This record gives sequence, structure tokens and C-alpha cells, in this order.
Amino acid sequence: MFILLSCSLRSEHLIMTLAVIAVYANCYDVDDSNKITAGNVVLSPGGVARNIADAIGRLQSNNPPYFIGAIGNDSAGTLLWNSLEHVNRDGILLTKNCKTACCAIEIEGLHGPTFAVNDMDIHKLITPKMIYEHEGIISKSSVLIFDANIPLETMKAILVLCMKHEITVWFEPTDWNIVTKPFTLNLKNAITYISPNFKELRLLSQYLTGKTYESDSLYRNLNTLLENARDYALQVLPFVPNIVVTLGKYGVLMVKKNSNNPEIMFYESTEQHNKENVFGVGDCMASGYIVAMQNGLPVEQCISVGMNTALQSVISPQTIPETLSYGFLTKSPQMFELPLTGRIYL
Ligand SMILES: Nc1ncnc2c1ncn2[C@@H]1O[C@H](COP(=O)(O)OP(=O)(O)OP(=O)(O)O)[C@@H](O)[C@H]1O
Ligand SMILES: [Mg+2]
Repeated sequence: MFILLSCSLRSEHLIMTLAVIAVYANCYDVDDSNKITAGNVVLSPGGVARNIADAIGRLQSNNPPYFIGAIGNDSAGTLLWNSLEHVNRDGILLTKNCKTACCAIEIEGLHGPTFAVNDMDIHKLITPKMIYEHEGIISKSSVLIFDANIPLETMKAILVLCMKHEITVWFEPTDWNIVTKPFTLNLKNAITYISPNFKELRLLSQYLTGKTYESDSLYRNLNTLLENARDYALQVLPFVPNIVVTLGKYGVLMVKKNSNNPEIMFYESTEQHNKENVFGVGDCMASGYIVAMQNGLPVEQCISVGMNTALQSVISPQTIPETLSYGFLTKSPQMFELPLTGRIYL
């Protein structure tokens, strides 16, 4: 794997992240005998922020994002470098001292990862010093995007610089077990947008409230899912003013701070049954939203572009489909305003 850090300039985009080569192994015949088994093994460029840089670069080819990160001088590094040819790669450090980050993921069909091994030593090269060296670019960015794979001290440098220059910051939580990382820094309101899935939101809300929530409602029914997602998001709202909760096949819940009551909207997606892919879907949602936001579109159209971008990933065997382009109609999705408290009936 390698680390990518990118940011978007006022006239361009800038993004920051860790980039990784992912090896997906889908075993055909899993049993307990520990034998070598036949399966489908795929090598793919990955890393949440790399995925977002890749998708934004394709959606907005006239205004490519600027990516900051590190890759090793090896074949995995070459693969990652080539995967970002539509992105500004000036901020990528090429090193002989570390190998490119790599992640081996075992998957079962389309159910997501069951087991993963991360080899990401190179992330230590993404230092606060590297961030400060990019202060000039960061200060001219309109939005800076980062994921949870970069070191904590580096996150701190990013957030402090962005607060100093009043830059919009988008945090993509990456995985439920690292979602709380930037919140341990106690830099309230340093993050402007967060795009968790339900599980990441739940974990973050528990961390911020110090509470332990009861059973997980994810697969019970839509109303309970929405009630819980709304309640968890309201606990996160004092820390992040814009929460874009991705709810898989159901759609997106948007919770925004307002001068009076928070705005809570559910945007329903059209479920796609012929799923080809489970990786990068949330990253595509965030990318579409960010590009639409950069184009000055209202929230419901940002959600629409985000959901359409995600849909392209759901039906494509590629994590970030090569066919992505900004041709999406910004027709508003089906919207439901949710009550602040109490039961939800759609
Ligand atoms: N089966 C589906 N049919 C239609 N839309 C889908 C489907 N699955 C996902 N989506 C869209 O993609 C968005 C992101 O999906 P999801 O909530 O699964 O992200 P995620 O858990 O972050 O995924 P990942 O981290 O693997 O990329 C959803 O909000 C929804 O708009
Ligand atoms: Mg995700």
C-alpha cells in the first residue's frame, strides 16, 4: 500500500490519504482443514483516500485533485502511480526506504471482508513536516479530504492548518475500528463533513457520549435503522456540523447543523440487486457529493450525484469504475424529512 494525501485548490481540488495495493481473495471452497483452496484473486489499487482521488479525478477531469502520499520504488508503487494518472501526483513521495503499502483481504462472495492483513509501514513517512511543507497548497484549497489511515500526529497537523486557513475538511472514516482516531485530538469542529456508514456512526457516537448502545438494529427494519441512525448522528452533531450517513442499499441520511433545529433528511436509493462489487461504494458516494458541492449544487443534488456515483461502483467489477464521468443528472432523489425525536413513519 502507499499513502496519499490530497487537497483541493480553490480553483482545483486537493486530497490527502494513504494509498494501498489490495489483494482480494474470494475462496470457492472454505472449510476448516487449512488447505490451499481454489478461488478468485484480484489485485487492485485501493486505500479510501486514493479511491476518492481516483473517482474525483474521473468525475472532474478538467480540475484534477492534488494528492499527497508516499509509494515505494517497487511494482506495487508503479501500479498505484499509474492508477492516478488523471490526478495531480506532484505531492506523492517516491521512496526506496519502504515498500508500497499492501493489504491482503479475504472475502466471501459479496459480503465484504472476513479477514485482512495490513502491511502499511510506509505510513510513517506521512509526517507533520510533510503537511507543513504543503501549507501553501493547503491554504488555497477549497476542501481537504483525509481518511483514518494516516498517523495521528499527521492528522493533528492537517486539522490545525485547516482551522488556521478556514478550509473545509471532509473525513472519510475508513473502517469502524479507526473511526474515532481524529476525535481523540479534542479539536472540536475541526472536521466539517464526515461520511460514516451505520456501523462507523454507531461506534463514533458511543465514543463521543461514553455510552454503550444496546443491540444493533441494522438489519431489523428501515424505520428502526433510521431512528437509530438519526439518534446516533444527533450525538455526533456537536462535533461535526455535516454528517452524511451511508445506509447501503437504503440510501443516505443527511444530518446538518442549523441555526435553529438540525435538518434531518433521508434520501432513498433505488436498490440495485445485480451487485458486482462491495469495495469503494462509500468512497464513490463521498466523491460524487464533494464534486457536486464544489460545483455549487444544493444538498439534495449533491446527494443525488453521490448516490448515482455509488451506483456505478455497485454495478461495476472495478472498485472505482473507469467509466465514471460527470454526466450524471442531478434530478432530486426521493426525500423524507425526519422528525427530531420520536418514531419515524415513511
Ligand atoms: N445495493 C445497493 N443498491 C443501490 N445503492 C446502493 C447499494 N449499496 C450501496 N448503495 C449506495 O452506496 C452508498 C454507500 O454504500 P455503503 O453504505 O454500503 O458504503 P460503505 O459501507 O462505506 O462501503 P465501502 O466502505 O465498502 O465503500 C449508499 O448510501 C447507497 O447510496
Ligand atoms: Mg466506507
